[in-house]
Amino acid sequence: MFWVVVLSFFLMSVIVRTGPVMNSSYVAAVYEHNVILNPDPHVPLSRTAALQHMQKNLDIYEEQAARAAQQGAQILVFPEDGIHGFNYNRLSISGYLETIPDPQQESWNPCTEPGRYNNTEVLQRLSCMARHYNLYVVANMPDLQPCPLKTDPSSSCPPDGHWQFNTNVVFSSDGLLVARYHKYNLYFEKAFDTPPQPEIIMFETPFAGRFGLMICFDILFHDPTIALVEKGVHQLIYPTAWLNALPLLDSVQFQRAFSLGANVTLLAANLRNNQMNMRGSGIYTPFSATYYHAQKGEPEEGRLLVARVPVLDPLWVGWSGTTGEGVDSSQSTSFASPPTETAPSVPPSSATFISSMLDDPFTFVLLNQTEGEVNTCNGTFCCHLQYRRFQQDGSKELYALGAFAGKHSGYRHWAVQVCALVRCAGLDISSCGQGVEEAESKMDFTLKGKFGTRYVYPSVLASKLVLEQPEHLETAADGTVTMRHSNMTGGLLTACLFGRMYHLDNE
Ligand SMILES: *[C@@H]1O[C@H](CO)[C@@H](O)[C@H](O)[C@H]1NC(C)=O
Ligand SMILES: *[C@@H]1O[C@H](CO)[C@@H](O)[C@H](O)[C@H]1NC(C)=O
Ligand SMILES: *[C@@H]1O[C@H](CO)[C@@H](O)[C@H](O)[C@H]1NC(C)=O
Ligand SMILES: *[C@@H]1O[C@H](CO)[C@@H](O)[C@H](O)[C@H]1NC(C)=O
Ligand SMILES: *[C@@H]1O[C@H](CO)[C@@H](O)[C@H](O)[C@H]1NC(C)=O
Ligand SMILES: *[C@@H]1O[C@H](CO)[C@@H](O)[C@H](O)[C@H]1NC(C)=O
Repeated sequence: MFWVVVLSFFLMSVIVRTGPVMNSSYVAAVYEHNVILNPDPHVPLSRTAALQHMQKNLDIYEEQAARAAQQGAQILVFPEDGIHGFNYNRLSISGYLETIPDPQQESWNPCTEPGRYNNTEVLQRLSCMARHYNLYVVANMPDLQPCPLKTDPSSSCPPDGHWQFNTNVVFSSDGLLVARYHKYNLYFEKAFDTPPQPEIIMFETPFAGRFGLMICFDILFHDPTIALVEKGVHQLIYPTAWLNALPLLDSVQFQRAFSLGANVTLLAANLRNNQMNMRGSGIYTPFSATYYHAQKGEPEEGRLLVARVPVLDPLWVGWSGTTGEGVDSSQSTSFASPPTETAPSVPPSSATFISSMLDDPFTFVLLNQTEGEVNTCNGTFCCHLQYRRFQQDGSKELYALGAFAGKHSGYRHWAVQVCALVRCAGLDISSCGQGVEEAESKMDFTLKGKFGTRYVYPSVLASKLVLEQPEHLETAADGTVTMRHSNMTGGLLTACLFGRMYHLDNE
C-alpha cells in the first residue's frame, strides 16, 4: 500500500511487461479560488441578483480555464462553494439554485442546447467554458431537486417539498454534462440536505480513464470515498472548502496523507479565505505532490496549479496492465481484518501526560534528549519513536509523541488510531497538541504503530506548512506501519500516522 511497496512493484512491472507501462500521463489543473462572497448570506436574493453575484466568480473561472488550457490542462477542478459562497440558510440560497438534470438519465450539453431547461445559466456557462477551452471542467454548485428523487422514490421528502444539495458537476471537453455528485457528509451546512443514500459517482475520460467524485468533509468517511477506492477507482476529484486544523488536519497535510495512504491520485481544489483560514490545494499522486499553501499575511488571491501526472486507472485501455496485481483492486484496497491486540512489548515511557489535540485526549510523552527512543500507549494501542533531533542553537522547542485510540468527539464522530509526533506550541506540556505553523528543529526519525486497519494516512509536515515525502513507508502483515524519514529541509511540525477505523464509526 505504501511508498516502497509501490515503487518496487512498478520497477518489477517495467521489467516484466513490455510496452509503455508507467509513462501514460495527462495534465491536471486545480484552481484555489479567492471566492467573492455574498456579504449578507442570510438575506434571500432575487435570481437576477444571485446570478450577478455568481457571474463575478465565473468570470474568474473563465480566465483560469484559459490559463489552464494554455498550459495543456486536460481537466480543471474548481473548489467547493467557489461560485455561490457559503453561510446560507435553506431559504436564502434559493436564488442560487438550479435544477441539475441527472446525466445517468439523459444526455445534455447545456452549451449547445441551452433552451432545454430554464434557469440553468450557471450550467450553461460552465459547459461553454469546458467546450471553448477543450478541457474537462469540475465545479461545485447548489442543486434543487423536486421530490421524489428518481433515484430514491421511497424516501421521504423535506417538509418544503424539494431537496437542496451541495453538488459537483462535471463537463466533458465538448460541454456535455457527464457527472453529478451530491455531497453526503455535510459540515454545518444549513442550506443543504443529506442525500437519502450515499452516491458513488465516477466518470470516464478519454485521457486517463475513470475518476471518482467527493467533496470536502467526505474525505474523512467511508462513503463515498472509500467505497470508490474499493471499487478500484484510483483517481479522485476533490473540491473543498477546508477549515485548517493543525496539528493533524491541515488541508495539504491530510490531502497528501490521503493520497499516500489510499494509494490514489487526488486533485484537491480549496477555497482561499483568510477569515475562515481556508487555504491549501494540490495535485497529489502516490509519487509526487504539486501543492500550494499560502503563508499567513500573504495577499488573499487565487492560485492555479498545473501538473503532468501518471494515469492510475488500472482498467484504462492505454494502460497495458493485464496481470493480476495491476487489475485486482479489490485485493489491494480491501480491509485487513483487524489484528488481535497484544500487550506492547516495550513498556510505555514513564512520564506520560494527557493533553488535548483537536479535542481528543492524547497520551503524550516528551522527547527530552537529542536522540533516543520513546513509547506511548492509549490502552493497547501503542506508538513507538526512534529519533535524532538537530536543534538550533538557543532553540528551546518542545516535542512530544502522542497516541490516541478511540472516537473523535466533535461535530461528527469518527473512530481513529493515531500516532503523532508534534512540536508543542509553547514551552509548557499543556501546549502539546495545539497548532503552530513554524518550527526550527529538524528530526531524523522512525515512527511506528500497530494498527487495526489498513487505512493509515501518513504525513510529514515541516515549518511553514511545507510537505515532505516520507522517505520510507512500510506496512507489515500484522498491521504495523513504519514511517522513516531523515534529512528534513525544515523544522518538524507534525509527523503522523492517522489510522481510520471506518468499521467502528457506527458502533
Ligand atoms: C497502488 O496502486 C497501483 C495502481 O495504481 C497498484 O498497481 C499497486 O499495486 C498499488 N499498491 C499497493 C501497495 O496497493
Ligand atoms: C513512453 O516511454 C517510451 C519509452 O521512453 C516512449 O517511446 C513513449 O513515447 C512514451 N509514451 C508516452 C505516451 O509518453
Ligand atoms: C421557460 O420559461 C418560459 C417563461 O416562463 C416558459 O414559457 C417556457 O415554457 C419555459 N421553458 C421550459 C423548457 O420549461
Ligand atoms: C527524560 O524523561 C524520562 C522520563 O520520561 C526521565 O526518566 C529521564 O530522566 C529524562 N531525561 C532527561 C535528560 O531529562
Ligand atoms: C485512551 O486514553 C483516554 C484518556 O486517558 C482514556 O479515557 C481512554 O480510555 C483510553 N482508551 C483506551 C482504549 O484505553
Ligand atoms: C542524508 O544526508 C546525508 C548527508 O548529506 C547523506 O549522507 C545521506 O545519504 C542522506 N540520507 C538520505 C536517506 O537521503
